[in-house]
Amino acid sequence: MTSRTPCFGGNWKMNTRLEEALSLARSIDEGVASIEASVDVVLFPPLPWITGVAEVLSGCSVSLGGQDVSPHEDGPFTGQISAGMLLDSGCTHVLVGHSERRHGLDETNTLLNDKVLAALEAGLQVMLCIGETLEEREAGKTGQVVSTQVRECLSGVDQGSISRMTIAYEPVWAIGTGRTAEPTDAQDVHAQVRTQLAGLYDASIAQEIRILYGGSMKPDNAGELLQQTDIDGGLIGGASLHSDKFLSIINASTTQGSAE
Ligand code: PGA
Repeated sequence: MTSRTPCFGGNWKMNTRLEEALSLARSIDEGVASIEASVDVVLFPPLPWITGVAEVLSGCSVSLGGQDVSPHEDGPFTGQISAGMLLDSGCTHVLVGHSERRHGLDETNTLLNDKVLAALEAGLQVMLCIGETLEEREAGKTGQVVSTQVRECLSGVDQGSISRMTIAYEPVWAIGTGRTAEPTDAQDVHAQVRTQLAGLYDASIAQEIRILYGGSMKPDNAGELLQQTDIDGGLIGGASLHSDKFLSIINASTTQGSAE
């Protein structure tokens, strides 16, 4: 029997002003502190607010992550941020492969693999996003696209490091659109990813890795999604900008028994 602790990421994207970010972090932290069940929560604020949010979260159970990381360690890479810089700023986590970077900025699986390896090497925990576009789904290619993303992005990630990774399945057509995958359709993809992880690593490692769902997760659909056997939490965009909504999604995991 596995007992995966539910995990929730709040991806604020390019939203909030400083004061708003600090007070949002404060209220999320207060809400999480009052949850008795075991749950992991990570906030991904815009980069300029990282150190301020780190101060708010200092000594708290809520973790902090960057929304992106450079594949390089140091050097002439204007505008990029290294894994070491994220660590020095108080981050323990980083998002890699969000669809707004894959599709908006043409980031390839090869580049994302380099980012994953750089982040792991530096000691960060990585939340790797995968997911198909609407066109790919309609062409019946979801399984193939997702499995290629997993295989290529995890290339060179060894057994010792894979436990520092979380996978977030985010169908691109569900992100920020108000459309959510049917819980059973999402479950099918999550189960496929877990089976693939068992092949790449082994069955017990695959049972331990958290696979989150992302894409218009809201308080009113979270319960049904989190009830699925292989959905271990969520990566939340829009709803994470409202502490009440974000906390109510997190609370849904404590009442749904998703971590059996
Ligand atoms: P959404 O975003 O919850 O607003 O759909 C999810 C994400 O982009 O991670």
